Amino acid sequence: EKGGWDSFMDKEIHEDPAAVQRTLLGRLDKNGDLNLDEVRIEEHELKAIDKIIVVACGTAAYAGQVAKYAIEHWVRIPVEIELAHEFRYRDPILTPRTLVVAISQSGETMDTLMALRHAREQGSKVLAICNTQGASIPRESDAVLYTHAGPEVAVASTKAFVAQITAAYVLGLYLAQVKGAMFRDEIQATLDALKAMPRKIQWILDTQAATVRKAAEQLTDAKSFLFLGRHVGYPVAMEGALKLKEIAYTFTEGFAAGELKHGPIALVDEGEPVVFIVPPARGRNVLHAKVISGIEEVKARGAAIIAVAEEGDPDVERYADIVFWRPKCPTLMSPLVDVVPLQLFAMDMAKLKGYDVDKPRNLAKSVTVE
Ligand code: M6R
Repeated sequence: EKGGWDSFMDKEIHEDPAAVQRTLLGRLDKNGDLNLDEVRIEEHELKAIDKIIVVACGTAAYAGQVAKYAIEHWVRIPVEIELAHEFRYRDPILTPRTLVVAISQSGETMDTLMALRHAREQGSKVLAICNTQGASIPRESDAVLYTHAGPEVAVASTKAFVAQITAAYVLGLYLAQVKGAMFRDEIQATLDALKAMPRKIQWILDTQAATVRKAAEQLTDAKSFLFLGRHVGYPVAMEGALKLKEIAYTFTEGFAAGELKHGPIALVDEGEPVVFIVPPARGRNVLHAKVISGIEEVKARGAAIIAVAEEGDPDVERYADIVFWRPKCPTLMSPLVDVVPLQLFAMDMAKLKGYDVDKPRNLAKSVTVE
């Protein structure tokens, strides 16, 4: 069942490239237009959508947070992301022009299901991004976009995360097409960039796994980790932190790198491991400069710097103690590669500590209680 791997998590991380690829498959019709799987929403209703609220939990919520950056940029409508259990109980503002997007690997998460029921009761349309055919969440939604990651068995979500980002990007491009927010060739070029990602993820798996393993060996006994990122690197940092706490039982905190000076830097002491997601270095990327200055700040306080960064980034080479390299790609695509070494890192740490990586204590694969 594990196909030669010694854990499902190992197998599933190695299926990241295929998960992205399969989720993109068959999305274009013969006219070159994008298609979703099931859309029971009239075209004029989709055109009128003026706000998106993504509801999800855990890893699925981080995928939604990544998608916010892309969809707002492409479609030019506001995208909010909210944890499903918070959304349901705060009297959210919903109208028939709000599209609620429920993201769930299992399709059975009770918090997310309750949130979508609430949204529909208030007259909003709900679109599900789901990895499980016919599960409750897609069944109760107005439209469905399936992630084709294949069954995910390990409790820690890995390949579903990259598939969820891919599907949410397809949704963004679809809405851009329906609303005429982007030119056809821009949509095509973005899809091409997405299609190039499975190969880049594979490159990470082929070339960075040994470095990641060595890093885990060096850091096995670390008591805590901080994970920092900006822009799309922020939810990736949160996801990296979640993976490590979930299966290696290590205290981690993920936050926006810009927050450092507003409090968290007080935690940084000699030897504290701090993981930075560094944005692409090309051009005069202001985000890159900001993250590098964060690295300088914590380095000056003796932290051990672990960076996920673009191949050959000279600033990172100068400051980081350990680097997980990523191949060049556009900023909006970078989460699809950046999360991969963090998934491997969490798994290696858990294995080195002797834990069952597929079945961490206290956790269930699908959380069917509210
Ligand atoms: O099945 P879902 O995507 O709705 O599950 C949501 C979360 O429970 C899930 O992502 C959880 O956070 C994972 N264990 C994270 O690895």
